Amino acid sequence: MRSIKNQKNLHGKKVLLRLDLNVPLIKGKISDTTRIDKILPTLKFLNKKKAKIIILSHVGRPKGKFVKKLSLEPICENLKDQLGLNVKLITQNVNEIKNKYFFDNFDEEILMLENIRFYKEEEKNDKKFAKHLASFGDLYVNDAFSCSHRSHASIVGISKFLPSFSGLQIDLEVYALTKITTHIKKPISCIIGGSKISTKINIIRNLIPKFDNVIVVGGMANSFIEYLGHNIGKSIREKNCELIIEEIISLSKKQKCKIIYPEDVFVSKNLNGSRKKKELKKILSDEMILDIGPKTIRKIINIIDKSRTILWNGPAGYFENPHFAEGSTQIAKKIIKNNKSNKIFSVVGGGDTVSFLRSINALDSFNFVSTAGGAFLEYLEGKKLPGITALN
Ligand code: 3PG
Repeated sequence: MRSIKNQKNLHGKKVLLRLDLNVPLIKGKISDTTRIDKILPTLKFLNKKKAKIIILSHVGRPKGKFVKKLSLEPICENLKDQLGLNVKLITQNVNEIKNKYFFDNFDEEILMLENIRFYKEEEKNDKKFAKHLASFGDLYVNDAFSCSHRSHASIVGISKFLPSFSGLQIDLEVYALTKITTHIKKPISCIIGGSKISTKINIIRNLIPKFDNVIVVGGMANSFIEYLGHNIGKSIREKNCELIIEEIISLSKKQKCKIIYPEDVFVSKNLNGSRKKKELKKILSDEMILDIGPKTIRKIINIIDKSRTILWNGPAGYFENPHFAEGSTQIAKKIIKNNKSNKIFSVVGGGDTVSFLRSINALDSFNFVSTAGGAFLEYLEGKKLPGITALN
């Protein structure tokens, strides 16, 4: 990858900068700024070089439509405060920006286009749209490792039309992950959880040959629990997963990789409720699974103790409600303890996992922390990420 770090003459150049500012927003407020904090060095670097920055980013999954609560406005305000620079959000429909010199009309140091996923062309990697975006700048920088598993217009398509470079943060992530995956020590256990079930369930199948234990927790575990014939009530679920789960289970037997899923859980009737411990067969139709239970926690802790490498992606429960943070807290504590005594090497990834660790002040207690979720897992699978390939 050609890094923007090594480019000399950036003075006055319009840099289209793809970032992942997909931070959690609760009622228009950012509940965790880690992803913003991490890219500040890139923005400061480009600003120091007197480049004109045009940020491209998404937040959430608006599916090609304007969704007010997924506006980048709070993120723009946060950047303004953190950088002490003028950052302007361009709310105009990008398809209507016909004049290539449109961006010359602003005095601000940094411009930011509104959520790029408001346009259906983005996720389709539409060539015309990518070319149109490219026409706004002189060069393109991808500093969104966590989006580089997506073949989208602002990640892949755009790079065909402009000289393209990697950003400071993506350089660090790729360097660290390459180092980790080439020096990995066995037994390796992967804890995989969170709520993006559709993104991750296929990945589990591909991780089996590389790992000794795959521990499935969080929303994804619900599909396994349902597959085993239990009622999961109102819990989040992914439909039509039976075949893939069957395949995962049979492949794990062949490859001698243990698949571990919850044996007991904590449930509630709603997200804000208090917790009730339940055996799997006792879950009622109006209840939802929101955390792993004590038996499951003990089992996971035992596996962590027998592992030399731990990769963790996705919280074990709905940690936003403290009643359901127990599973994730116990997992974190055990990894941190074994890490301190040099018993294991630990790598953590994913926006929600990072938010959780930040909430318990534990971000510095792991060997490597990546803000990437799906991209991190696909990298571990050994897949080529389209966003990275596009830069090569
Ligand atoms: C992430 O949160 O992992 C990235 O922002 C990508 O988001 P996506 O899974 O909605 O593509």
